[in-house]
Amino acid sequence: MEMEVRAGVVLAALSLSLFSYCCSAASLITPQNILNGTVGGEITFDISVDPVDLTASAGTWKFGSNVVVTWTNSNPVYTNDYKGRVEVTFATGTLKFNKLFATDSGEYTVTITTAPSTLNLNGRVELKVYDPVSVPTIQSNVTNPVEFNDTVTLTCTASGSDVSYRWFNGSSELSDTQRVHLSADNRNLTISGVLRSDDGPFYCYVYNHVSKNFSKPFNLDVKYGPDLPTLSVSLNKSVYTAGSSLTLQCSAQSNPTAQYQWFLNGTSLNKRSQQLEIKNIQVDQAGNYTCWAFNNVTLRYAAVHTVIDVIERVSEVTIQPQSEKPTENENFSLTCFAKHANSFLWLKDGHSLDTNGTVSLLDNNQMVFFNPLLQSYTGTYKCTAFNIVSNETSKEYTLVMNSDGNSLTTAGIVAIAVCSVLLVLAVTALVVFLLIRHRRSSTGSSKSSSPTTKPEDGLVYSTPTFLKEPGDRKSKQNADPNAQYANISKQPQVQSNTATEYAELRRK
Ligand SMILES: *[C@@H]1O[C@H](CO)[C@@H](O)[C@H](O)[C@H]1NC(C)=O
Ligand SMILES: *[C@@H]1O[C@H](CO)[C@@H](O)[C@H](O)[C@H]1NC(C)=O
Ligand SMILES: *[C@@H]1O[C@H](CO)[C@@H](O)[C@H](O)[C@H]1NC(C)=O
Ligand SMILES: *[C@@H]1O[C@H](CO)[C@@H](O)[C@H](O)[C@H]1NC(C)=O
Ligand SMILES: *[C@@H]1O[C@H](CO)[C@@H](O)[C@H](O)[C@H]1NC(C)=O
Ligand SMILES: *[C@@H]1O[C@H](CO)[C@@H](O)[C@H](O)[C@H]1NC(C)=O
Ligand SMILES: *[C@@H]1O[C@H](CO)[C@@H](O)[C@H](O)[C@H]1NC(C)=O
Ligand SMILES: *[C@@H]1O[C@H](CO)[C@@H](O)[C@H](O)[C@H]1NC(C)=O
Ligand SMILES: *[C@@H]1O[C@H](CO)[C@@H](O)[C@H](O)[C@H]1NC(C)=O
Ligand SMILES: *[C@@H]1O[C@H](CO)[C@@H](O)[C@H](O)[C@H]1NC(C)=O
Ligand SMILES: *[C@@H]1O[C@H](CO)[C@@H](O)[C@H](O)[C@H]1NC(C)=O
Ligand SMILES: *[C@@H]1O[C@H](CO)[C@@H](O)[C@H](O)[C@H]1NC(C)=O
Repeated sequence: MEMEVRAGVVLAALSLSLFSYCCSAASLITPQNILNGTVGGEITFDISVDPVDLTASAGTWKFGSNVVVTWTNSNPVYTNDYKGRVEVTFATGTLKFNKLFATDSGEYTVTITTAPSTLNLNGRVELKVYDPVSVPTIQSNVTNPVEFNDTVTLTCTASGSDVSYRWFNGSSELSDTQRVHLSADNRNLTISGVLRSDDGPFYCYVYNHVSKNFSKPFNLDVKYGPDLPTLSVSLNKSVYTAGSSLTLQCSAQSNPTAQYQWFLNGTSLNKRSQQLEIKNIQVDQAGNYTCWAFNNVTLRYAAVHTVIDVIERVSEVTIQPQSEKPTENENFSLTCFAKHANSFLWLKDGHSLDTNGTVSLLDNNQMVFFNPLLQSYTGTYKCTAFNIVSNETSKEYTLVMNSDGNSLTTAGIVAIAVCSVLLVLAVTALVVFLLIRHRRSSTGSSKSSSPTTKPEDGLVYSTPTFLKEPGDRKSKQNADPNAQYANISKQPQVQSNTATEYAELRRK
């Protein structure tokens, strides 16, 4: 098999050399490919004679049936259409165009007479003259494409012959995908369901065998939105204090820019700006604020709302006692009154009030209830009223007790002490007076001056006894096992109550 092939090659070589020898064969070497020229450009049809010892002594170039040039030895004759435009090289027959026309495209034939051996050789050359591509332009068949809705076709236009097209989105070349379709000739780029991200820049690249060009960037002005707006409030709070000023700012992504409208509880506020300023807000301005964004090209709307709660500051905090004359061992209460308050805190002598078996807080801490009122509850009381935005503290209320039938108040004790002193002084004065009178009447007896000290002794002795009594009561009461029990059991409960109270405030 291999032998056969080799034999065939040898035979062919042999017959070829035999042929050239036998007929003193020569040939014309011509460009085998089609020659590609540019309108206005140059091109050379390079030909030569083989073997090289032969030259072209005469010849003729024809374009179809029209003669371009004919020469004998060194005398060329150019046809009118080609004068000055073409040039022939006599020795080889090479033809050069200095300036190509689009109409020069086609088949050229050449015949040459060689010397010294006179042989007639023929050849052919095919020329294609291209218009170079111009700078391409891009056109969209939709001027304001609407996001999601529109299908856009971009068409690339360029002059030139045999123009080919390619498309770029930014720097990446486009090919058919789900949303992108290129026409068969690639001139049309169709984007279905256009998106805002399809804004480009798009480029069209055009080319042919002789030139290439890029379009200017083309941006698609895709109309979209408004998206769901964001609504921000200058002071971000859940509740606003009456009298505060706030600014609501609404913002929605949209092309073109959205137009805005404001509504309160569904009623238009006739405000068409992106911002809504509310100065000195009042309770009756609380409600559901809605911002509507509208795009007048896409004709789409979007809205967002926020609920603005307004409450008044706490004011007019006063403590009202149950009666003007608190009486020891009777029930007594203090009530905290305030406007716009929803919680209360009591202070006694600057410390938070401890509740226990005999003192308790009622009505959501609004009332301190003494059951009964004891001497130890004397002191100054203050009440702080709260709401979520503010707090205010009352003036001090000083709790002073009237004494009841069974015991003496401090004032009573003082009064009794003063009376006793006065009485003793009066008695002393009387005694002294009597003694002086007695001495005047019967002189010499000066020994009985001791009675002067006796009333004083009585005074000194009697006062502590008086004062001791309330103190005894107090210590007796502290020793009362029931009271002690109440004290221990109530203490932690009080603390946890206070903690809840604060937590509640903080949460609000
Ligand atoms: C001219 O263009 C053709 C395609 O049309 C190509 O095959 C040929 O090689 C080109 N010629 C040259 C000299 O590049
Ligand atoms: C693009 O086209 C213009 C005008 O037709 C031409 O002047 C320019 O040279 C071309 N550019 C390229 C890179 O071919
Ligand atoms: C633009 O071209 C696309 C595809 O050819 C077509 O679906 C669309 O309707 C055209 N739009 C307009 C406004 O002509
Ligand atoms: C390219 O798009 C244009 C404009 O939409 C249209 O007239 C033309 O038929 C399209 N051509 C192709 C090949 O799709
Ligand atoms: C163009 O490129 C952007 C990213 O740069 C992409 O989001 C968009 O989908 C692309 N559009 C098309 C039609 O390819
Ligand atoms: C406002 O505060 C709330 C919680 O207090 C928070 O969830 C929200 O993100 C805040 N808004 C702004 C715009 O800061
Ligand atoms: C809006 O509605 C809320 C809830 O119904 C109401 O409390 C508020 O007073 C209303 N505001 C206005 C300004 O009508
Ligand atoms: C506020 O109003 C919007 C519409 O305007 C409604 O969708 C929303 O439910 C309202 N919110 C409240 C808390 O009333
Ligand atoms: C949309 O509104 C703007 C003003 O905000 C106006 O200039 C434009 O002409 C309007 N466009 C249409 C289509 O109504
Ligand atoms: C977009 O398309 C939807 C239905 O798909 C239609 O209801 C709406 O009117 C269209 N919008 C525009 C601006 O053409
Ligand atoms: C009471 O209000 C004042 C400001 O008026 C504030 O500084 C203080 O922290 C508030 N007290 C409590 C317990 O919230
Ligand atoms: C209850 O607490 C008060 C202090 O707030 C105290 O003076 C009083 O003695 C206590 N009462 C009892 C029964 O422990």
